[in-house]
Amino acid sequence: MQDSEFRYLQEFLLRKIGLSLSDDKKYLIKSRASRLLREHNLSDVNALAREIRKNENGTLAHQLLDLMTTNETLFFRDQYPFDALRDLIFPELTHAKGRHGKIRIWSAASSTGQEACSIAMTASESVPEPSRVHILGTDFSAKAVEYAKAGNYSQMEVQRGLPIKQLVRFFNQEGNRWLVRPELKEMMTFDHANLVEDSLAGKVRRHGPFDVVFCRNVLIYFTPEERTKVIDRIARCMHKGGYFISGATETPEGRFSRWEQVLYKNKRLWKLL
Ligand SMILES: C[S@@+](CC[C@H](N)C(=O)[O-])C[C@H]1O[C@@H](n2cnc3c(N)ncnc32)[C@H](O)[C@@H]1O
Repeated sequence: MQDSEFRYLQEFLLRKIGLSLSDDKKYLIKSRASRLLREHNLSDVNALAREIRKNENGTLAHQLLDLMTTNETLFFRDQYPFDALRDLIFPELTHAKGRHGKIRIWSAASSTGQEACSIAMTASESVPEPSRVHILGTDFSAKAVEYAKAGNYSQMEVQRGLPIKQLVRFFNQEGNRWLVRPELKEMMTFDHANLVEDSLAGKVRRHGPFDVVFCRNVLIYFTPEERTKVIDRIARCMHKGGYFISGATETPEGRFSRWEQVLYKNKRLWKLL
C-alpha cells in the first residue's frame, strides 16, 4: 500500500471512529479489507482508499469502518463487574430509588450483546423487580448491533463465560443455536452510536440519564486526547454518583468530569462526582 494512501486511511479511521492505528499496522487494513476489494471489484487497497476519499459517508466507507472494529467479547467477561453489580451497585440503587424507580444501565461498546445479556441476567437474579432495570447497548458496528438485537448465539459463544445454570434459565435451544428468552430480551435495547461523535448525548438521551455505564475494552483503541473527550461525553449522560465500569486496565480521565475510585474486591470501579 502506498504511504500516502495509508496515511489517509489512518487519518480517516481516527477521525471517524477514534481508531488510532500505528505505522506498523498496514497489514491490518489489508487483511480486514480483502473481502471488500472482491465485493466492490477493487484492484487493491490503494484503489479502496481512493474510492473512500470520493465519498466518506458512502456504503464502502461504512463497511471499512465496521470491518476495522474489533468485536471480541464474551459473557461475564472478567466476572468482577457483575459481582459488583449484584453485591454493591444494585443494593445501593434499589435503596436509593425505592422498590419501583427505574435503574438505567448503558453498555457503551456492547459489541454482539454478551455484556448487556450478562448485566440483564445479573439483574434478573438479584433485583427484586428486574423489569424496572433498563439496559441500553450501543456500538459503532452495525453488524454487531444487528447480532445483539437478534440474541441468537452459537454453541461456541455460549461456552465462552456462560455458566450452564444461566444458559438453561435464560436461553432457549433451537438446533445448535441458543436464543435469548423474551423476559431477558425485554430488558435490553440495542442501537448504533459512535462514542467519538459530539451528538452521542442526544442519541442516547431518551434512555438515560444512566445510573451505571459499562465502557470496557474500547478506550484502549483511542488516542489519550480522544479518550478524555469520550469520558466527558459519557459523563454528561450519567447521574451524579453513577458508576462507571471500565476495562480492568482502563482509567476514566476526563477533562471536565471528575471521578472517585471505589474498590470492590481490590478491583477499581468509578463514581461520577
Ligand atoms: C473489544 S469490543 C468490547 C466489547 C465489550 N465491551 C467487552 O468488553 O467485552 C470493542 C467494541 O467497541 C466498538 N467500538 C469501537 N470504536 C467505537 C466507537 N467509536 N463508538 C462505538 N463503539 C466503538 C467496536 O465495534 C467493538 O464492538
